[in-house]
Amino acid sequence: MSTKPVELPKTATPWPDPMIPRAYRVDQVRQETSDTFTLELAPQDGKPEMSFVPGQFNMLYAFGVGEVPISISGDPGKPAVLVHTTREVGTVTRAMRRLKPGDTLGVRGPFGTGWPVTQARGSDVVIVAGGIGLAPLGPALYQVLAARKYYGRVVLLYGTRTPADILFRRELQQWHSRFDLEVHVTVDRAMGTWRGNVGVVTALIARAPFDPHSSVAMVCGPEVMMRFTVQELERRGVGLENVYLSMERNMKCAVGFCGHCQFGPTFICKDGPVFRYDRIQPLLAIREI
Ligand SMILES: Cc1cc2nc3c(=O)[nH]c(=O)nc-3n(C[C@H](O)[C@H](O)[C@H](O)COP(=O)(O)OP(=O)(O)OC[C@H]3O[C@@H](n4cnc5c(N)ncnc54)[C@H](O)[C@@H]3O)c2cc1C
Ligand code: FES
Repeated sequence: MSTKPVELPKTATPWPDPMIPRAYRVDQVRQETSDTFTLELAPQDGKPEMSFVPGQFNMLYAFGVGEVPISISGDPGKPAVLVHTTREVGTVTRAMRRLKPGDTLGVRGPFGTGWPVTQARGSDVVIVAGGIGLAPLGPALYQVLAARKYYGRVVLLYGTRTPADILFRRELQQWHSRFDLEVHVTVDRAMGTWRGNVGVVTALIARAPFDPHSSVAMVCGPEVMMRFTVQELERRGVGLENVYLSMERNMKCAVGFCGHCQFGPTFICKDGPVFRYDRIQPLLAIREI
């Protein structure tokens, strides 16, 4: 059976003006790895919590410094806590890293398309993540597991550079212990006491237990990793119309006004960031817009 391609889910922005940030309080800061941290946030205005679909992102505003797009990494079934996992790479993410419980962060969103989680019901689900790419895919996995009986086999393939770069260790342990979820983690370079897989994440695809003719694949990571992942999935027999990627290119307004993320008729911010592969293939060949 071949899985039919689907339209990607979007939710309406709940905030009256999508350009005005809403104040959120930092409730928890968790260091995931040496350069990556998770913030748990709650709205300060007492208004309803944010509902979102897995794969959507928010614009996070570090006051006086700047604003950056960051995917929502928490469980969509627990919207009372807004969770973001961020790698510190530059000015804004460095300022975010300095936040402490009780501090305030501006939040606009949620924006963009989501992973086709509901639409994948009845199929096997293959999630392939590289590095920080596990953050936007986490909510998709939470949602699949919350409705586990509607899916066939569910496989998570996750690769990082070294064992020290593995995110969500606590969650990975819980996912590992489930009988209805196949989890394989690999590292480019083994270090310390690592006894697991060594090699790139794409090498796991050939042996992973799923039916390529009835699978939906969701992929996020560095663009080079996503390109090779698509090749391996295709080699395995997965139809490219059933492969979805998240394009994390630079953006400013996030609502289709400024053109910063525009590529021809496509806006990454509002037509993505999650795209069906066959619709975004030409863009992958272009370095930055
Ligand atoms: C839709 C979307 C979702 C994202 N989700 C996450 C997430 O969940 N977690 C996370 O850590 N990051 C995520 N990013 C990337 C994040 O937005 C950037 O890392 C951030 O904007 C960097 O801002 P900065 O001011 O700290 O760094 P800057 O000072 O702007 O840049 C520092 C370095 O990072 C590079 N950089 C800037 N933006 C990006 C980008 N979009 N992708 C790759 N490299 C970039 C710059 O080229 C530069 O080399 C996402 C991006 C998009 C578009
Ligand atoms: S970020 Fe402004 S149009 Fe997409």
